[in-house]
Amino acid sequence: MKAALLRELNADLEIRDDVGLVDLGPGQVHVKLVSSGVCHSDLSAQNGTIPSGTPVVLGHEGAGVIQEVGPGVDGVKAGDHVIVSFTPACRKCRACLRGQSNLCEMMGQMATSANFVIGGNRVAGFCGCGTFSQEMIVPEAAVVKVDDDIPLDIVSLIGCGVMTGVGAAINTADIRPGTSVVVFGAGGVGIAAIQGARIAGAAEIVAVDKVESKLEMAKRFGATHAVKPEDLPGVQQEVTRGEGFDYALECIGNPNTIRATFDAARRGGTAVIVGVGRLTEVVQFSAFELFFHEKNLKGSMYGSANVRVDFDRLLRLWRQGKLDLEGMISRRIKVDDVNGAFRAMQAGEVIRSVIEF
Ligand code: APR
Ligand code: ZN
Repeated sequence: MKAALLRELNADLEIRDDVGLVDLGPGQVHVKLVSSGVCHSDLSAQNGTIPSGTPVVLGHEGAGVIQEVGPGVDGVKAGDHVIVSFTPACRKCRACLRGQSNLCEMMGQMATSANFVIGGNRVAGFCGCGTFSQEMIVPEAAVVKVDDDIPLDIVSLIGCGVMTGVGAAINTADIRPGTSVVVFGAGGVGIAAIQGARIAGAAEIVAVDKVESKLEMAKRFGATHAVKPEDLPGVQQEVTRGEGFDYALECIGNPNTIRATFDAARRGGTAVIVGVGRLTEVVQFSAFELFFHEKNLKGSMYGSANVRVDFDRLLRLWRQGKLDLEGMISRRIKVDDVNGAFRAMQAGEVIRSVIEF
């Protein structure tokens, strides 16, 4: 079958048609992908921002149909429609039992499993997935069943970007109605965060992006204001009367914008870091300001979601026209064009490209 392989850091992905799968083991499911979103984290794996190891089949935002299940799998069966969750929710580990399944301890095990076979060697999928492939094997805990009438070519975005962004707004930040919000970065994750803020009832939602075309898009999804970074101080003065925002969300993954996000939150407000920066990059805070401004600084991993509950919440919002997924799909492509999709994302030309299989 066909899959897009990252052979070494900073190289273009190799589109191969000789990729196989290992035999299905206990607790595993074999998924045939219908669609996969192309997320910035895949690009971050390619350029080494996110350490993933190589060779690796990239892609971690997908939806598809179960082909076969391994011994002991009783939650899903062949023919079921599923969205892939790049963090499993095993329902047994301490994190899951504590109600923080987005931090499931099975994640490490999943990420290091190697279920693809290329040239006789076992090869891993990114985050234990590998959705830039026609088929893949993941643990049962990494799929969430959805109703058969859900269009699988649209909802793959829920598997990462949409859950991450909406969840950061409604779960991690827990945005209250009638508050002010600023979102840095209007890509797939940022647009989802803007939608989450709108759903939560924020009064003002300011989008910040360096790319002009993203500012117009942000307004279509609920931003009340959209500005280039250099124009934020003026809008912040106008919207918050100089106080700073109740909530500031960083959806880029850059130390400078992380710092700017913290600065944009008001005293006692909340800054949420959604973007994924490099392990070696550092953000500085003065020892005094952390105390004096009493801001809540929160990391947000996978939108602090319980995917077994929250994917359904998102689907219900989508069914009622309150969450726009279709509008987030800028391009539909074939897996052969994934390198082009990476370049379009780097140039800021797309919200999301979606691979159709
Ligand atoms: N200032 C303002 N905007 C910026 C800057 C900057 N310095 N750098 C990048 N941007 C904007 C881009 O123009 C783009 O619109 O941030 C947006 C990022 O969007 P995408 O590339 O589509 O990335 P996305 O998939 O949304 O992921 C964002 O979240 O999950 C993480 O790893 C992911 O760190 C990444 C982040
Ligand atoms: Zn992602």
